[in-house]
Amino acid sequence: MKIINKISAMQTMAAELRNKQRKIAFVPTMGYLHEGHLELMKVGRANADILIISIFVNPAQFGENEDIDIYPRDIEGDSNKAESVGVDILFFPDAEEVYPKGYQTKIKVAELSQCLCGISRPGHFDGVATVVAKLFNIVKPHTAIFGEKDMQQLQIIKRMVRDLNMDIEIIGVPIFRELNGLALSSRNSYLSPEERVSALCLKGALDIAKAMVISGERKSFKILDAIREYITGHPFTKIDYIAICDLETLHDVDVIADNKVLLALAVFIGKTRLIDNAVIAM
Ligand code: PAJ
Repeated sequence: MKIINKISAMQTMAAELRNKQRKIAFVPTMGYLHEGHLELMKVGRANADILIISIFVNPAQFGENEDIDIYPRDIEGDSNKAESVGVDILFFPDAEEVYPKGYQTKIKVAELSQCLCGISRPGHFDGVATVVAKLFNIVKPHTAIFGEKDMQQLQIIKRMVRDLNMDIEIIGVPIFRELNGLALSSRNSYLSPEERVSALCLKGALDIAKAMVISGERKSFKILDAIREYITGHPFTKIDYIAICDLETLHDVDVIADNKVLLALAVFIGKTRLIDNAVIAM
């Protein structure tokens, strides 16, 4: 596996690969890789000749009250994991390389960025869209793979690619969970053992909602009331938001009908904000 730090070297390499008709799959990450990230890489491996990943803890997507400095990092462990799933190139730039002095351009996917996580994390998705667009220009992938764990992010990237006519196929990969249901996240490393137990209420809430829909419940407020009560019955929990919305527009849905409907949650477990989601109606 090759490690590249400089944008110009990455762009030259990507252009050469494209000239040789190699199909490039790309998985952007912020590192501290876990099994969920590796699933994305396996999908990339199966879909292309060359698999490139990036590790970049992107300052532009962290808010003022969100501490980028404590975001977990382990570049050595990450390189080994990446190599074990057949990554060809690890792109690992530093912040000055990505945002040099004088940098001032932003991408804003206007509507999709305002709801759900966008409310408590203003500017977050502008930072995500901007860095992903930059990474696409640097890595020049044919295909890029994102996790459904961050469903709003996935929908924003799909919208950006459509709106800006980027010639890139976006693949979404289902949420990878521990056997007990907890969605894997780099942020799980912040949880104490007791908080880890409480954190299972996110998946528990999704299951309750699915069961209510299967048994015929169509009114979103009834489902929301039930899972709000369920989550707050667990210690250390504070709900940031719970929403039942259209999977593509992310607009609230009051009555579940024919569209694909998403239940999205963000819950603080102690100081750690966790997100989870499930499609509860097709
Ligand atoms: P990061 O949180 O490192 O996640 C990288 C990718 O892994 C994202 O597409 C995310 O949805 C996916 N992922 C994380 N946990 C997952 C799980 N349990 N199952 C399936 N997929 C999972 O998301 C980001 O980084 C950044 O915002 C980024 C896109 C790299 C831009 O900076």
